[in-house]
Amino acid sequence: MTSPDSRTSAEMLAASVARQVPDLDPVWRQAMANVPRHLFLPDRIWLDDTAVDKGSEPYTWWKAAYDDQPVTTAVDGSPGRETQGTSSASQPTVVARMLRFLDPREGGPFLEIGSGTGWNAALIAYATGAEVTTIEIDPACAESARRACATAGVKVRIITGDGSAGHKAHAPYGSVIATCAAYGVPRAWVEQVRVGGTIVLPWDSSWVGYGTAVLTKRQDGGAEGRFAAFGAFMPLRHSEGYDDALPDVDQDAEAHEATSSLPPWAVKADEPEAAFAIGARLPGYQFLSARNKDPEPGDWCCSTRVIDPTGANWADITHDQGADEGPFRVTAHGERNVWADIEAAYEWWTAESKPTPDRFGLTVEPGGTQQIWYDEPGGPSWPLPAA
Ligand SMILES: C[S@@+](CC[C@H](N)C(=O)[O-])C[C@H]1O[C@@H](n2cnc3c(N)ncnc32)[C@H](O)[C@@H]1O
Repeated sequence: MTSPDSRTSAEMLAASVARQVPDLDPVWRQAMANVPRHLFLPDRIWLDDTAVDKGSEPYTWWKAAYDDQPVTTAVDGSPGRETQGTSSASQPTVVARMLRFLDPREGGPFLEIGSGTGWNAALIAYATGAEVTTIEIDPACAESARRACATAGVKVRIITGDGSAGHKAHAPYGSVIATCAAYGVPRAWVEQVRVGGTIVLPWDSSWVGYGTAVLTKRQDGGAEGRFAAFGAFMPLRHSEGYDDALPDVDQDAEAHEATSSLPPWAVKADEPEAAFAIGARLPGYQFLSARNKDPEPGDWCCSTRVIDPTGANWADITHDQGADEGPFRVTAHGERNVWADIEAAYEWWTAESKPTPDRFGLTVEPGGTQQIWYDEPGGPSWPLPAA
């Protein structure tokens, strides 16, 4: 299945992943060593928004295949979204951390949502010998994943379609693993998993994509489990394109000036745990960051726009040059200062000693309602829209 060169590279990658994910079952490491990742990459990949062609940059291309890094394998390509990734080969350590939640012996048959390159599905098939079905919404990705699995000699059933409906024809599954992120658990996944089976779902609120829910199907038809504190995946989408437009804001809404001591970056990338809590507590809130026009060299000044789900209330928070400690100018539009909502959620998070996502869990009730809870299923909770 492997040429000597790729065997060495794949073994080195597997060894490095195993060092970083110490409790990894050896069957997953063996699969990574024996299912060469380069067979699953297209000839053109994107690294940090830059296209890399196998023909003209073979060393960079090969290194990307065997470095522990995510590789963009398809882009939107439409105007303004020329290099926006629509499919990728996930970072191998993240793949391993997700696979850790599956039982390689008793966990099958497996359903994966988001075939992408096909590598993850091929790893599951190689490691477990069980039936693996995977669904991919992008027909071109599905086709190249089929070819890659055939070249690698691994048997995987690859369906082209929207994975949010699952794949009833081969249910029930022992495990459903999504490699694209969703806010709530699609009903079909819960229905198509057997009692005691596992659902692994990277979580994605409108505020942040972070955290991975690991649920067990309950006897009563619901599912429940906690989040793990890692994971940031491309979103589960319902068509080949993305519907990621921000809500229109009410430009005529009355404006109020205020100040805030909360740095806007604290509730976003700098503190993903805070962002996770905000995403759980404030459904539908979104932000948009804009760097100031023509900043001076070395200058990092920007504004963050926070918008509530209706677009009727929104606020711009400005970070002025040299004012990293604040106060930050807030221009709030509408009846409510939405930045105050973010401040309150952040204050709750700090007052609770900055809980990480593993303090939170998700329950799907048999009737389909879903909620995120804090500390235990009966604790404080926030509803998710029925998926
Ligand atoms: C991070 S990639 C998956 C990586 C993949 N498991 C691998 O091993 O290469 C996410 C994939 O999910 C796909 N996707 C997004 N929404 C989907 C949906 N509703 N149904 C099926 N696939 C979807 C994307 O097209 C993309 O290929």
